[in-house]
Amino acid sequence: MPEPSIQPTTNNSSVPRHVAIIMDGNGRWAKSRNKPRHSGHRAGVKSVRMSVETAAQRGIEYLTLFAFSSENWSRPEDEVSSLMKLFVEALRREVDELHRNNVRLLFVGALDELSTGLRKKIAQSEQKTAANTGLQLTVAIAYGGRWDIIQASKSIARKVADGSLQLDDVNDEAFSAELQLSAVPDPDLLIRTGGEQRISNFLLWNLAYAELWFTNILWPEFDQNVFDEALSFYAGKQRRFGHTGDQVETTGC
Ligand code: FPP
Repeated sequence: MPEPSIQPTTNNSSVPRHVAIIMDGNGRWAKSRNKPRHSGHRAGVKSVRMSVETAAQRGIEYLTLFAFSSENWSRPEDEVSSLMKLFVEALRREVDELHRNNVRLLFVGALDELSTGLRKKIAQSEQKTAANTGLQLTVAIAYGGRWDIIQASKSIARKVADGSLQLDDVNDEAFSAELQLSAVPDPDLLIRTGGEQRISNFLLWNLAYAELWFTNILWPEFDQNVFDEALSFYAGKQRRFGHTGDQVETTGC
């Protein structure tokens, strides 16, 4: 019998091991208050802090946030530069507290596209928190799911060309190992705020079996009650990974 192409990376616990979030709606939140867009992003930092705290309290092991997509580079220049400043500022202000709370920080994306100053802050915060054993917070910046898959494909092609990997050995596991989230189990739950119901080029490979939860709430208004609502939705799901419901009930697979 052939091996299933996608193996569950989690047990059927009612708490997701890995939650990924598309934080959308900052601009509309600001507009509805007659404020500039960057004040929406600033307000969004509060929801980031709450999400990290709630994830840790609920026993979630991995939280991955989509902070800036490959496509976001085409936003107006002043919005891009204020977002980049906000990332530097947030790192400066929050890393000590994250460290005290045993959070491990990881950044993924085309980080070489970022300014030297931001890259330096990223490297420092990753180093500082590298040995922490609590929640792993992954922030995707200048990230695109297609970019991730292309990078992985190039790396596989290079290995096949230099003989360190045989073509027949290219499988799910070998491919996943080349992706940005190679050291992280696939997300169990994807949350998207802001009313749109799409993936927007986030973790295209890794979200294959994620439960998807969408809310009209705008990101700056995402609070603990809304997060818990998403977690309750998840707890009510039977995850089958291609098996039948009966199989899952009898064997727990
Ligand atoms: C999408 O809302 C949001 C972003 C592109 C930026 C998200 C960034 C933050 C929440 C800032 C802090 C993040 C970290 C990790 C410190 P949008 O601007 O697309 O909203 P709109 O759809 O209403 O215009």
